[in-house]
Amino acid sequence: MSKTRSKHFSQLAKRLNLEGSDAWAVHDEALALKRKGEDVILLSIGDPDFRTPEPIVDNAVSHMRVGRTHYSPALGELNLRRAVADYETRVSPHKCEVEEVAIFPGVTAGIYAVMSCLLDPGDGVVMVDPMYVGYEPIMSALQANTQIVMATPKTGFVPTYEDIVDKVDSTTRVIFLNTPANPTGAIMPAALLTSLASFCQQNDIWLVCDEVYSMFTFDQPHISLRTAADKIDNLVVIDGLSKSHAMSGWRMGWTVAPPELTHHLGNFSAMSIFGCPQFIQDAAAFALNNDEYYVKEMCDRYQLRRDNVCGRLDDIPGLHYRKPQSGMFIMIDITSIESDDKVFAKKLLDAEKLSLLPGSAFGKATQGHLRFSLVQPMNVLMEGCDRLSRYVSSM
Ligand SMILES: Cc1ncc(COP(=O)(O)O)c(C=O)c1O
Repeated sequence: MSKTRSKHFSQLAKRLNLEGSDAWAVHDEALALKRKGEDVILLSIGDPDFRTPEPIVDNAVSHMRVGRTHYSPALGELNLRRAVADYETRVSPHKCEVEEVAIFPGVTAGIYAVMSCLLDPGDGVVMVDPMYVGYEPIMSALQANTQIVMATPKTGFVPTYEDIVDKVDSTTRVIFLNTPANPTGAIMPAALLTSLASFCQQNDIWLVCDEVYSMFTFDQPHISLRTAADKIDNLVVIDGLSKSHAMSGWRMGWTVAPPELTHHLGNFSAMSIFGCPQFIQDAAAFALNNDEYYVKEMCDRYQLRRDNVCGRLDDIPGLHYRKPQSGMFIMIDITSIESDDKVFAKKLLDAEKLSLLPGSAFGKATQGHLRFSLVQPMNVLMEGCDRLSRYVSSM
């Protein structure tokens, strides 16, 4: 008789096998209903609905046709590293050199590589709640000691300097920021970034910032960590094309870090990713060198969507929101109607087939909120507002 033996898996595999937050249950249910052909409006997603601009697609195809389909250096193709360095030099007073740039298949891979090169198990990383859902698994994989700072609606979802430095202890190696932020669209003021940069300089702490929404700010220009800081030898900026150029599926991101860290990132990349596709890097360089038109057009359209949706939300009694300064989402405070965001989202889906994401998917600070995503055409967003309004007035 053969004995049933359970397969062995590593502790890492087990740590990554996190239970999905139940805040995502409504989104999963909405997806299933949509697949069955039901008339569901899915505003719980974060993938740009725009197509990648045609000239970028043409550029990739033409490079594929001329044989740019082979291995590439671990740190990335020189022409793309130069395009990123030029871009980063344009948006900050600190000149960015090619030796500071590493290319990764998306921002997520860049964050994982950076944190892997900076954190040992038990090392502290200060992070802000609410946060992008991809951060926690990375810290869990690395067994980092996460030190969570709350950024509540009271402060416009921007953490205070005091709250951040309060979390720092002798284990802290990294303070990890995200500005402009997902899911709130909040932008950290330059003064906060400047103070944090100088605190980190004095205390030998790395300051790392995910700036994937850097090209989508509406009412004020993006303030990069590199712009705000006087000294940059302990800073890392991570950015990419997933959002700005509607290229989420191309997997294109980069890190800007001191040359010594970039050298380590190259080693990390060589053993894990082994370089990104050449033709995608060529098209990414083309996009960055010619990006003003496409990016501005998409940003203007998101801004118009934000303004129209906010205008409609103003007319729905009981709902409150803070106009996002950037990004692709509006956080709606529903607490004067229902305290549990998951309950509200589920009832809304049942009654109106409208899927909004409960704010508790992103942490505690956004509990009692729903994330209304702007990545659908205007007519769909307006229909979403109609359904939300009908649901609220039926209560
Ligand atoms: C703050 C933030 N960082 C990173 C990512 C993922 O970026 P990428 O697709 O380039 O890995 C997202 C995606 O939603 C995000 O919101």
